[in-house]
Amino acid sequence: MTDRPRILLTGAAGYIATHTWLALAEAGFDVLGVDNFANSSPKVLDRLAPLLGHAPRLEVLDVTQTDALQDLLRREPVQAAVHFAAYKAVGESTQKPLDYYRNNLMSLISVCEALRSQGCHRLVFSSSATVYGDPGVLPLREDAPTTSTNPYGATKLVGEQILRDLGVADPAWQTACLRYFNPVGAHPSGLIGEDPRGTPNNLMPYVAQVAVGRRERLQVFGNDYPTHDGTGVRDYIHVVDLANGHVAALRRLLEQPGSFTVNLGTGQGYSVLDVVRAYEAASGRPIPFDTVPRRPGDVAACWADPTHAHQLLGWQARHGLARMCEDSWRWQRLNPLGYDSPTPDTP
Ligand code: WQD
Repeated sequence: MTDRPRILLTGAAGYIATHTWLALAEAGFDVLGVDNFANSSPKVLDRLAPLLGHAPRLEVLDVTQTDALQDLLRREPVQAAVHFAAYKAVGESTQKPLDYYRNNLMSLISVCEALRSQGCHRLVFSSSATVYGDPGVLPLREDAPTTSTNPYGATKLVGEQILRDLGVADPAWQTACLRYFNPVGAHPSGLIGEDPRGTPNNLMPYVAQVAVGRRERLQVFGNDYPTHDGTGVRDYIHVVDLANGHVAALRRLLEQPGSFTVNLGTGQGYSVLDVVRAYEAASGRPIPFDTVPRRPGDVAACWADPTHAHQLLGWQARHGLARMCEDSWRWQRLNPLGYDSPTPDTP
């Protein structure tokens, strides 16, 4: 038995969730993970074990199965939940809107119903800067206008609305909506990291695969944006900083009444070419690229005003772009095939 507060982590085998798992354990929490491995690999559990110092507790479960989740929480009650389980590919969401609305909204509703049945009313929700659509004013503050520009983003916007409405209906509910900017990088051990299935949609995992020789060349989607070098600018945040942001949000929910929404970004924007140069410096490998037309749906620039998270949670990102690239490269270099690679010796 442990007197460490137990936290439910859904989508627990995923990229951000595994890094949050470690941060929660380091912060003195006991984690109960659930995942159905729809978008992750059970192999990650063998990587977590040496980092945790014990076997991770994970129940294979589809969180939309409310009865099964309620049974689990009846056996292993929790103090709060961090809800990651969702589909997250913007492009795919435009091709499969029903899958996205069903999975992402039903999973959130199911988790809330299961928590409520156990008498728990605290939830940290994985939201996204995508809810801002094409930013009018930068940097983005939490009171900026929101809109949905794709079904994935709509599920995050509606998810936030569901939680607001839940709090109005029952003030016992305390929720934290965390709007991620662009999560990148990996745990410095090189044991866990981002392992996208198929062709990476996102910039840094694609660059990493070029650096390690899995991909020939990067396609830069447009160099005619109104930015300092014409390529898209984003607020990249180290996944370890992001994980620590979840711990800070959870602590606030456990220690004080009320709900909140915060941006989790660094406040610093970098262009595609900035990232390419930083990755070449970190890896010592060339990143050849071709410039091609803009990707539909992309915005020119997007970066956070992280002031609210700093003031409310006492949290701020600490790692810069060089460290993001160094830690990403170590993960990719030690695991050229992601979790299908042999486990590297713990450095
Ligand atoms: C970053 C920049 C591209 C790939 C998306 C989701 C968002 C969040 C993070 C879930 C852009 C350029 C990219 C490539 C490129 N996901 N790029 N060549 O689009 O800002 O955000 O992922 O929450 O919700 O929208 O991230 O990494 O795809 O793109 O030139 O092969 O890199 O045009 O300027 P994005 P990204």
